[in-house]
Amino acid sequence: MKPALATIALFFFLFTTEPSSVRADLLEPVVDISGKKLKAGENYYVLSAFKGKGGGLSPNSFGNNTCPLVVVQERHDVHRGKPVKFLPLNSTNKVIYTSSNLNIEFSNHITICLESGVWKTTKFISEALNVATNGVAGSGQSNVNWFRIEKAEFDGAYKIKFCPNPKFIVCQELGVFSHGKDGKRYVGLANPGKFQKLRVVFKKANVKNAIDDAVEAVMSM
Ligand SMILES: *[C@@H]1O[C@H](CO)[C@@H](O)[C@H](O)[C@H]1NC(C)=O
Ligand SMILES: *[C@@H]1O[C@H](CO)[C@@H](O)[C@H](O)[C@H]1NC(C)=O
Repeated sequence: MKPALATIALFFFLFTTEPSSVRADLLEPVVDISGKKLKAGENYYVLSAFKGKGGGLSPNSFGNNTCPLVVVQERHDVHRGKPVKFLPLNSTNKVIYTSSNLNIEFSNHITICLESGVWKTTKFISEALNVATNGVAGSGQSNVNWFRIEKAEFDGAYKIKFCPNPKFIVCQELGVFSHGKDGKRYVGLANPGKFQKLRVVFKKANVKNAIDDAVEAVMSM
């Protein structure tokens, strides 16, 4: 094959492969910290897989922007952040599989921004891409709303990837970056070197957690 043809073939391989053609045996159910399969539409905290590497994920403001809120990692391990729901593109899937397309949504996302809690990517600054809220869930929406969960290099830990198109098999790993001196740990995509790895585990949020979070959200408005 001539190099140009090989490039074109590679392009088609990378960008036209349907996710459904990923071999079923490569898709593994994602499990929470008690070893249970993650279920679509239920509430989970996304916690740091390692001690001393931050807490859970929460909505917060970016720099001087009030809205949309962006996703940050809590600075301290003890803060579990806000629960999220995972919504598979393939809505017949009742459990969450690795390497499958998902929308991720903060549950009970009641804020002054009156926005959805669905994650999407947004560019506020040239050197990084933030994960922000106010995305739109479901197929047929713009390609800023898709993520996947993949197993990390350590047993039981996962990474989250942003997928610029649900049909691509090429996705980029989310990490944590800082901006200015506000000390916030912004979740998004940034140049290597400006960027810390994000390795996570999932903890099921119980009903009491959900009520506490909803009350806290209303009180902070
Ligand atoms: C959706 O998931 C079901 C069950 O896992 C599977 O049989 C089906 O092929 C999937 N559909 C697509 C379009 O990937
Ligand atoms: C916020 O606004 C102030 C005043 O306009 C500016 O000096 C500062 O650099 C801004 N901060 C960020 C993080 O953009």
